Amino acid sequence: MYSNHYKYVSEIINQGLEKAELDGVLIYSGHAHNYFLDDMPYAFACNPHFKWMVPVTETPHCIIHYRLNAKPVLYMFQPQDYWHSLPKMVEGDWTAFFEIIAIGCKEDVPDFSNLKNHCWVGQADSCEYDNLQHNPKVYMDYVHFHRACKTDYEIENIRQANVLALKGHNAALQCFQKGYSEFETHMAYMLATQHNEHQLPYGNIIAQNENGAVLHYQHMQRNRLSKDDLKSFLIDAGCSVNGYASDITRTYSLVDNEFSEMIKAVEKMQIAIGKRAVVGVSYIDLHKQAHHMLADILKDFDVITCDAQTAHDSGLSNVFFPHGLGHYLGLQVHDCGGHQNDENGTILSPPELHPFLRLTRTLQENNVLTIEPGIYFIDMLLNKAKANSRDMGKYINWSRVNDFKPYGGIRIEDNIVVKAENPVNLTRI
Ligand code: GLY
Ligand code: MN
Ligand code: MN
Repeated sequence: MYSNHYKYVSEIINQGLEKAELDGVLIYSGHAHNYFLDDMPYAFACNPHFKWMVPVTETPHCIIHYRLNAKPVLYMFQPQDYWHSLPKMVEGDWTAFFEIIAIGCKEDVPDFSNLKNHCWVGQADSCEYDNLQHNPKVYMDYVHFHRACKTDYEIENIRQANVLALKGHNAALQCFQKGYSEFETHMAYMLATQHNEHQLPYGNIIAQNENGAVLHYQHMQRNRLSKDDLKSFLIDAGCSVNGYASDITRTYSLVDNEFSEMIKAVEKMQIAIGKRAVVGVSYIDLHKQAHHMLADILKDFDVITCDAQTAHDSGLSNVFFPHGLGHYLGLQVHDCGGHQNDENGTILSPPELHPFLRLTRTLQENNVLTIEPGIYFIDMLLNKAKANSRDMGKYINWSRVNDFKPYGGIRIEDNIVVKAENPVNLTRI
């Protein structure tokens, strides 16, 4: 599988280099930065361009030297260091595609200052060479546009990242049913997935009750709620496999009630909209369709009184669904290129009514994306709508809002591979 992946990646890089009139590229894995006034580093996050080629995700200071028509060289950082354990020397199918040279310190890195017609792809402060173009736009736009189509190797890694995350989700659900705290639930997820915090593709969102209304809730309360107080649970958590992410959300009600019925309704529309992620569809249209379907649910539950079109056009549906339907997924949880309309870097901005939509493109075969609609009861947005009671606020049934507010919100999120027909849902397996 990797060999086909390599073939695709190297074709894209070759074409990107030719378009930018370059002969080669140095791709840097990256390095960690220290906190201000401190000798402790922030967690290391590998350059996605690096891990696209080489599934070594936790080793800083490595460099791939890729040239047109030559076997690439991987300078693999193997420091003489008694403070940390050595990064593992590498193995796997992919190693056959590289000449691999261990470097123990900076002095072992070849002098690149005489390289002609090369660029450097890496984080902001990482390029020490005046002769190298740093992240040239023409090359980056080309690669980012085409990186959105995933190879079988990439899809398999994302699938495995789903399998692993679902183990964590199962463990977390059991914690909720036993009345454990948010923090205990988080720890159970970490144990079940065998991830460290820095290996997660994003910080776990583990939210009970009203905390589910905070889109990226981050605190993880240490205390358990009493059985009488505990109502709902929203978990948004993924895993990483070979540098590829999963991004999954589920919402639960402790007992069968109106809120559990609303969850079922959102899940039904979420599955339906996931099936519409086929080649040639505009993701903006899917997002708008999601607004209409969620507005229908809000009306069915008597939370709003107007029809879906009015809810959408007046901005009312944004009060309850204030984020995008989803985003590209892969080497980054929000994989880049979602607003890039072509390989020349033309940007297709989100519509004015939907500024947070991260994906505006027309879908292509083997794009991998999330479908994550939600309904939330967020004080800040509800208060604004109330202040606007002559306009959209007049369509809100406030007593119903009060009924649902203690449950926080609902989000259901799956990872989907776009196909000409029958998109593949990697999360429901
Ligand atoms: N977990 C972040 C997101 O769903 O986009
Ligand atoms: Mn997501
Ligand atoms: Mn998510």
